[in-house]
Amino acid sequence: MKYLRRTTLALVATALAAPLAMAQPAPKLKVGLMLPYTGTFAALGNAIENGFRLYVNEQGGKLGGREIEFFKVDDESSPPKATDNVNKLIKRDQVDVLIGTVHSGVAMAMAKAAKDSGTLLIVPNAGADAVTGAMCAPHIFRSSFSNWQPAYAMGEVVAKKGHKTAITVTWKYAAGEESVNGFKEAFEKSGGKVLKQLTVPFPNEEFQALLTEIASTKPDAVYTFFAGAGAVKFVKDYAGAGLRKSIPLYGAGFLTDGTLEAQGAAADGLLTTLHYGDELGSKRDADFRLAYAKAYKLQPDVYAVQGYDAAQILAIGLNAVKGDISKKAEFAAAVEKAKIDSPRGVFTLSKSHNPVQDIYLREVRGNANKVIGVASKALSDPGRGCKM
Ligand code: BEZ
Repeated sequence: MKYLRRTTLALVATALAAPLAMAQPAPKLKVGLMLPYTGTFAALGNAIENGFRLYVNEQGGKLGGREIEFFKVDDESSPPKATDNVNKLIKRDQVDVLIGTVHSGVAMAMAKAAKDSGTLLIVPNAGADAVTGAMCAPHIFRSSFSNWQPAYAMGEVVAKKGHKTAITVTWKYAAGEESVNGFKEAFEKSGGKVLKQLTVPFPNEEFQALLTEIASTKPDAVYTFFAGAGAVKFVKDYAGAGLRKSIPLYGAGFLTDGTLEAQGAAADGLLTTLHYGDELGSKRDADFRLAYAKAYKLQPDVYAVQGYDAAQILAIGLNAVKGDISKKAEFAAAVEKAKIDSPRGVFTLSKSHNPVQDIYLREVRGNANKVIGVASKALSDPGRGCKM
């Protein structure tokens, strides 16, 4: 009898406690932002974080039913510090997901750490071909581009314009080298010839010797990859050397994205290729731009879009697993079949998890990278070396 009474009391207590237990909110999702907040790519890192937070705020601060807790590391775009930096997020902060980064060399170290630890990684900029090539993995995604994509599209554009010879100029590191190689691949396939491939160490901004060499070689065209503060300096120096009149300058769109105010008239008329641009004309993009401008009193650029879309990818996966990020296969399956409703236009992910997307041809007009056409429709990176 005594036993029965005790059991009944225990059951009543359990019954009363159950709804309380069920009402417990899921623990916050720990998101590790590893981005450059200092150095030549600082503005890019800030724009990515702004875009990411904008999407989270539009969802009421929750993704997949879970509130977000941010952990931040400034990676300084420094490859030698990259492994220590990413381990601060993985081991010290024990984040659920890594978002990063801008610099290709740093991103490759992140991808290795993400593979070793099994941590989910979404790359919101760095184009390192290997991230969705030889280093690809079921839990690594990219919301941006591969270095090959805008460069390959520009190689075709420059050849179609009738140019027969070109010089490439860039920083000597993975992104620069992969970008000029992508350009060369398409340009030479179409009958052009790259005469010289000039480089300066990253993030050097001393361009005079290269400009002198371009002037004396006299190619039909120059193709370049620079971004952030380095892009501002290169465009001004190219115009300052008087080369704009004699040798047309082309570039991957990072040359003029987020940089036009600082470049001023020196950038006028430049043609670049990229997966985003100004005045795309869609309601989706107009709404995004208005919301971004309201939130940050700034105009968005490609980096802001990529940050926003990194959050969208995370949300798609998390919604499919109801916030349980340990269900990696289901998370990946949902993202793999998603049509991502980006301000750039709807895109899907390739087998190796890189965006399959339109690459726009843009022309600088005043402070805008005006879209004047589609250089390459639904361009998919070849994903060389990816076994998945
Ligand atoms: C990169 O390192 O992959 C990169 C940096 C800035 C803009 C675009 C690409």
